[in-house]
Amino acid sequence: MNAETTRRTTPAEITAQVLKSYDEAPPRLREIMTALVRHVHAFAIEVGLTHDEWREAIATLTATGQITDERRQEFILWSDALGLSMLVDAIAHDFPDGATESTVLGPFFVPSSPLREYGATIAEQAAGDPAWVYGRVLSIDGEPIAGAELDVWQNGDNRLYAVQDPGAPEAHLRGRFTTRADGSYAFLGVRPVPYPIPDDGPVGRMLAASGRHPWRPAHIHLIARAPGFRTVATHVFDTASEYLDSDAVFAVKRSLLRSFVAREPGDPDTPAGVDGRWYSVENDIVLVPGDPAEPADPGRTA
Ligand code: BEZ
Ligand code: FE
Repeated sequence: MNAETTRRTTPAEITAQVLKSYDEAPPRLREIMTALVRHVHAFAIEVGLTHDEWREAIATLTATGQITDERRQEFILWSDALGLSMLVDAIAHDFPDGATESTVLGPFFVPSSPLREYGATIAEQAAGDPAWVYGRVLSIDGEPIAGAELDVWQNGDNRLYAVQDPGAPEAHLRGRFTTRADGSYAFLGVRPVPYPIPDDGPVGRMLAASGRHPWRPAHIHLIARAPGFRTVATHVFDTASEYLDSDAVFAVKRSLLRSFVAREPGDPDTPAGVDGRWYSVENDIVLVPGDPAEPADPGRTA
């Protein structure tokens, strides 16, 4: 035996062999797989990954697959809780300053919400303090966009979206609105409340073990669509909410914070059907020219 045959195989040689195995892969796949291998191998070396930890990771991935079904997507929840969903979304939306920023769609979006009239309520049963949400949809150069569609969904004061709540009508707290000639829109929602992301699975166990909480700050979701403009899926965050600095899915962007202004019961602008305390929140939406495709984020129900 000479020195060359007894020389130990180094970790770097293992990495190099794996990288080489992608030499014949199609270019984009090769780029992705070799970067993945480089980063995963560097990660294992950086933390000195042990067999026990490796086994724990495999068990966690297995549990993630087992809890995932057509209603729950725990892999996407991992992506959300690790900030990867927001990062991929940010890479896809390099909008100029002043345009409405994009966010993750989240698991509670349900397509084909009912079309509702200007100013109509989306609450089909009692769900909290009324909130009049209004504004205009504008192009980045300040022109009103008539005929834009706003697809909105939110939770009520029981923390739940209708899709999570067997007691709620299917279209409760969601609806689609069309802007008027001056780009204006309005609807009557309720003041949203903070809520925890689904935390009874592997993601929840990771959060608890790490001393992280599962809460999201109070928000309303909306998708704005208009011919000739890029579709944007975004949030309206309540500036007074808890958890703005620690959103479990890292979706808070400072340009999306809005004040829910307290209004008195006798206020002359009180919307029809409201007889107690209510709030108003102004939220203009600014779109950039482009393809009005649906959000690429798959959307799913948890
Ligand atoms: C949501 O806002 O609906 C949401 C987003 C990501 C994970 C869980 C919930
Ligand atoms: Fe949400």
